[in-house]
Amino acid sequence: MSESGIASSQWIATCPHETVDVLDSELESLRIHNRNKFYRGVFFECDLETAYRAHLLLRTASRIQRVVAKFKMTSLESLQAGLNEITWPDWLRSHRPFQVSPALTDEHAQELDSEQIVAAVVRSIESSAFKAGPPKFNPEAKEPINIVLFVRDGNCVLGIDTAGRALHKRGWRTNGHPAVLKETLAASILLLAGYTGDEPLLDPMCGSGTIAIEAAYIALNKAPLIHRGKDDFSLEHLVGFDRSLWRKVSDQLRAGKRAELLAPIRLSDINAKYVEVARASAKKARVEKYLEFSVARFQDCVPKTEHGLLVMNLPYGERIGGSAVRALYADVGRVIENRFRGWRVALLLPTEIPDAWLGLSVNQKVALRNGALPVKLLLVGRKRERLVG
Ligand SMILES: C[S@@+](CC[C@H](N)C(=O)[O-])C[C@H]1O[C@@H](n2cnc3c(N)ncnc32)[C@H](O)[C@@H]1O
Repeated sequence: MSESGIASSQWIATCPHETVDVLDSELESLRIHNRNKFYRGVFFECDLETAYRAHLLLRTASRIQRVVAKFKMTSLESLQAGLNEITWPDWLRSHRPFQVSPALTDEHAQELDSEQIVAAVVRSIESSAFKAGPPKFNPEAKEPINIVLFVRDGNCVLGIDTAGRALHKRGWRTNGHPAVLKETLAASILLLAGYTGDEPLLDPMCGSGTIAIEAAYIALNKAPLIHRGKDDFSLEHLVGFDRSLWRKVSDQLRAGKRAELLAPIRLSDINAKYVEVARASAKKARVEKYLEFSVARFQDCVPKTEHGLLVMNLPYGERIGGSAVRALYADVGRVIENRFRGWRVALLLPTEIPDAWLGLSVNQKVALRNGALPVKLLLVGRKRERLVG
């Protein structure tokens, strides 16, 4: 129980290591005070209502887990002792299959045998007193409940995944572009650039539109996971799930959405086919009517306002060839310098490409990853207080 008398619950939100600070600041803005950052995630403690809000509202989290137990774990014996303390029927339902995922994140932990860890958890669940029999261990089942063990520095945090499908899967993606950003990375870029929706935004290399769609969600104060269907979060399949509280939180978030943008969001691409992919996704995401689409070469773009945020995920060499890519980056630098002087600029490009190719003076550089590719976010132009960094 917290001081206010409201029962608190413990959770872990995970994300790529590079964006832990962004995720932490999102949790802070949900007024979650009890937080602890760690490698690839943030531990947090809050009441159930706030936790439900976090599931629908976090823009940069990959997954969320409910913490079930914490114990010392240096051997299989200590794992067994920790597992003996867990009352599984308080968490799992008999009819819902489960799987077990050990995340052994330091050298010492890696000496433990993953298969033996999984077997110990399975034994512990199968020997628990479930009225209708224990749930089945079946990693091949459709969307099994995932039991995750984070083992580090001799400590184990055992959690149950409550997201289900990874949280970047918002449900609006239309296929048809070969180099899409993850929705969570697009949101991280916008939050790192300090975007709140109160200035014009332009993505002139929009591809499938990920950045502009995430920007619309931020600007409209719209929860990114609000359109997930009923029973889509694993959370909804655990014992103790409070359906009426979940509905209350969802309704509050829907009511908190702005009716209009404060400033325009524009997106364009040189390839008309990609602009149509972006439009289709925006429609599914229910933000199409807020966005202004066009087909254009960035070299021909003329800003409609003196200030704004220009965000670009630049194309990479592999796709357009070595010397062409260098010429394009030089063009991009020149157009920004000549026409976007009053704008703030956020550019995402591979780490291996020298900043000098753009010829711009960079205010801040943030190392990120786009899948397996190391990339950097360059923040250029007029400074603004950023959410992070
Ligand atoms: C890396 S992709 C952007 C992907 C996008 N962020 C997404 O999530 O789908 C780069 C895009 O830049 C576009 N592009 C390349 N050269 C361009 C130019 N000169 N002007 C405008 N768009 C260009 C490509 O067609 C491609 O869609």
